[in-house]
Amino acid sequence: MTDLPIVVGRSQVEPARPAELSRVTVTQLMTPQDVNLAGNVFGGVILAAVDRIAYMSAARHAGRLCVTVSFDEVNFHSPILVGEVVTLRACVNTVGRTSVEVGVRVEAESVQRENRRHTNSSYVTMVAIDEKGRPVPVPRFEIRTQEEYRRYLEAEERRAARLALAQRHRARRSGE
Ligand SMILES: CC(C)(COP(=O)(O)OP(=O)(O)OC[C@H]1O[C@@H](n2cnc3c(N)ncnc32)[C@H](O)[C@@H]1OP(=O)(O)O)[C@@H](O)C(=O)NCCC(=O)NCCS
Repeated sequence: MTDLPIVVGRSQVEPARPAELSRVTVTQLMTPQDVNLAGNVFGGVILAAVDRIAYMSAARHAGRLCVTVSFDEVNFHSPILVGEVVTLRACVNTVGRTSVEVGVRVEAESVQRENRRHTNSSYVTMVAIDEKGRPVPVPRFEIRTQEEYRRYLEAEERRAARLALAQRHRARRSGE
């Protein structure tokens, strides 16, 4: 167990904001306009909803406009049906200097709250920008619970893996 709270981040922007502040929940009904050719909900409808909630969560933490810079890991475990209710839950997992990683968990169930299941989770990196579209520093991030700390550690591992991969690709291209 780690002693908490701790404050993380790579900017000097104070005060730090708690993870709790960035927590957002959205519930929506899947309707016939959301259907794909297989008769289930189109994956793009869910991704758009993930992008929207990730924006709300990131912009709450940053206190300003944010844009999507990357989506990590999008796996659909189970189809979602028209007439079902989808609940998305988002919160910031970690912050860099100008970027934040938001984790989004998606669950589906019937209107009567039956057959509830986890359909997918996604990690979205958003960057805070100024009026000219340039990246600007985001506030540091306060972690208060062991669950938030676990999410932070996993987000930092994803960030390190992402950077290492980008570096390998740059090295290969410069050697070409
Ligand atoms: C977001 C944007 C302003 C960043 O500009 P940039 O020149 O790459 O800026 P930087 O290199 O300084 O990177 C800014 C931050 O983004 C992060 N970043 C950049 N590319 C990334 C990627 N592919 N994955 C994850 N993070 C990334 C950097 O690590 C940095 O984070 P940090 O400050 O916390 O360390 C620019 O890429 C952009 O405008 N992209 C389009 C965004 C958009 O329109 N999205 C909607 C698509 S329709």
